[in-house]
Amino acid sequence: MEFREVVARRRMVRHFADEPVPAEVIDAIAAAAQRAPSAGFSQGQRLLVITSPEGRRLVAGLLDEEAGVAEGWDRWISECAALFVPCVSEPIYHRRYQEPDKVDESGSEIVWPVPYWFVDVGMTSMLVLLAAVDEGLAAGFSGITDIPAFRAALGIPQEFTPVGVIPVGRPLPDRRSPSLRRGWVPSAEFVHRERW
Ligand SMILES: Cc1cc2nc3c(=O)[nH]c(=O)nc-3n(C[C@H](O)[C@H](O)[C@H](O)COP(=O)(O)O)c2cc1C
Repeated sequence: MEFREVVARRRMVRHFADEPVPAEVIDAIAAAAQRAPSAGFSQGQRLLVITSPEGRRLVAGLLDEEAGVAEGWDRWISECAALFVPCVSEPIYHRRYQEPDKVDESGSEIVWPVPYWFVDVGMTSMLVLLAAVDEGLAAGFSGITDIPAFRAALGIPQEFTPVGVIPVGRPLPDRRSPSLRRGWVPSAEFVHRERW
């Protein structure tokens, strides 16, 4: 698929066929995600991939899928092919930026202009979303409200923050988010040229 088509086709899907996809497809999506850039090549991003029905049901419970079902949403977490959970470790960035080639003139860690760890895991997440489309599948994104409980249930080490859950699978007709009624920001408002 052409890159442009992948980008154009990507949208958050919230209803999937409850059927597996070949392991090679899961591996290809994970491999694409590892190609994400990272500040100082810190590579603080990790992916937790869950394909088992029990694992998916566990995550669905943590995200209170039932509350969504009661509101008319499909079971888009427990019923899909795989859940990709992008995680990031902030401490890996601090350790990396205390290395000799990264400290400032006074030998100190930089003052972080923005939290690069979250920038980087966002890049990882986007690659999962795009790679899923490139594999002829679709993906969604759910935030995680109780991160400590999520970590504990899935054995994620304390230094890693799971930033969301990306269900991937064969898309089925789904209910669209009411947020989409907001429409896109006009491109003239989004893109500023030469000077803001
Ligand atoms: C950081 C982030 C958190 C999101 N959290 C949720 C969520 O918890 N539940 C959900 O249904 N969609 C969630 N979304 C999806 C957005 O609602 C969606 O991207 C937006 O409405 C635009 O739609 P589109 O991606 O289909 O173009 C999230 C998206 C992002 C980037």
